[in-house]
Amino acid sequence: MHYIVKSGDITQQKSACTVIGIFSKCKLSASAMALDEACNGQISQILKKGDMEGESGQSLMLYDLPGLSCERLLLIGCGKQSELDAKGYQKAVTLATEILNESRATAAIYTLPELEIAECSLYQVVRDTALSATASHYRADRLKSEKKDEPKHPLKKIILFISDSKQIKLAQQAANHGNAIANGISLAKELGDLPGNICTPTHLADRATELAKGASKLKVDILEEKQMEKLGMGSLLSVSKGSRQPAKLIIMNYTGGKKDQKPVVLVGKGLTFDAGGISLKPSPGMDEMKYDMCGAASVFGTLQACVELGLPINLIGVVPSSENLPDGDANKPGDIVTSMQGLTIEILNTDAEGRLILCDALTYSERFEPDVVVDIATLTGACVVALGSHATGLLSNNDALADELLDAGQHANDKAWRLPLWDEYQPQLDSNFADIANIGGKEAGTITAACFLSRFTKKMKWAHLDIAGTAWNSGKSKGATGRPVSLLTQFLLKRCGLDG
Ligand code: BES
Ligand code: MN
Ligand code: ZN
Repeated sequence: MHYIVKSGDITQQKSACTVIGIFSKCKLSASAMALDEACNGQISQILKKGDMEGESGQSLMLYDLPGLSCERLLLIGCGKQSELDAKGYQKAVTLATEILNESRATAAIYTLPELEIAECSLYQVVRDTALSATASHYRADRLKSEKKDEPKHPLKKIILFISDSKQIKLAQQAANHGNAIANGISLAKELGDLPGNICTPTHLADRATELAKGASKLKVDILEEKQMEKLGMGSLLSVSKGSRQPAKLIIMNYTGGKKDQKPVVLVGKGLTFDAGGISLKPSPGMDEMKYDMCGAASVFGTLQACVELGLPINLIGVVPSSENLPDGDANKPGDIVTSMQGLTIEILNTDAEGRLILCDALTYSERFEPDVVVDIATLTGACVVALGSHATGLLSNNDALADELLDAGQHANDKAWRLPLWDEYQPQLDSNFADIANIGGKEAGTITAACFLSRFTKKMKWAHLDIAGTAWNSGKSKGATGRPVSLLTQFLLKRCGLDG
């Protein structure tokens, strides 16, 4: 989507469609009022007929109103003016964009950013507008023969109208940010929704290579199993042993910042299918374990957003990718493997494989001397029990980093909630035969998973995002959400001082 920010007299603007907000009880927004005047009160006359009152979810398309220079006028209900919040606003933008995608208009003026939204700056409102409008273009029908949902005349260009001409530059930046975040979300959703037979570790590696094409600041390096063996990644490789697809360690190095600036490292769990291994998962819903690479997908999406915006930051994405399947050569309960760091691990449950591939990727990340490391993983079913699908679980060995991420989640409408990582939980990982066990029993499963990872991140400022509940929706609207690309990009924008 292409965005241009403009300001000035709305009645003088030619367009294929102009979108205006209407509040409850037919209350007109500022632009609606100006346009109403320009067409001698036609808009209020039409509203008096009662087909639309301005409630949230309502809309009305009007054509060729005399005196106006727009071919269409799209009225969007915004609900009570005093109650319009970020959620309601997003809903209004999405509705407008969906209607326009079904119309023949391929360019439109949105006057919605002029609306006042509780506790939202202009930067946020404009960014949310672009994010919602671009994001509403995502379709999950890539592999359907008939693309019934695909609009015939999709919207291509949106002119965002704001009232304060002094803020055009800031608003244009906000629009670019929103667009890039939405494109990152779409990439993460696409990768997540792809089935396990297509989205293999090799496929992810190819997509990383593709991402680097034409992006001069992004270099991609793929480590093969042989190289991982040399590095001593016995834990990671033990998981891929049970699969015919070779594991890959994907390293994406984006150098947008100063040479001496320490990088942020994002480590994303890339299990392209998790059947559980010998500790096989039950059949119902097992298809959803194709989403076990959504941590990796969020790293791809965030890196893409960084590249698109050319952010002045050094960012490294590390994606350990493998399948977890039952096989004659697969890990068996009781097996003991040696991690790259040297710690021996007793694998008491082969389904706790995420931590087995992440621990070696985290040890590998030490070589980048990162400022901070954040791993993102669909790690535990226990996190879905604890937090449901609204909040991502956050655990960290550093309070400042945890606060930064919580704050980013809050600002980007992509919330996380912190759980404790107290030493009291660590003994749950004790093993009789190895340095550490890969499971910690029934209690506090999300915390003990993070405790496991914490054994490998002692030298770094580290945070762990458990996205098991937030990365995809189940049921009728099954599909990847693209979370937490928004949170992560906001975190990086803020670090660059570019979040408005
Ligand atoms: N990928 C799963 C976690 C998961 C399960 C995410 C369900 C979303 C929904 C992970 O590899 C896993 O299987 N974890 C086990 C750990 C247990 C064996 C300690 C789990 O949560 O059951
Ligand atoms: Mn598992
Ligand atoms: Zn898993």
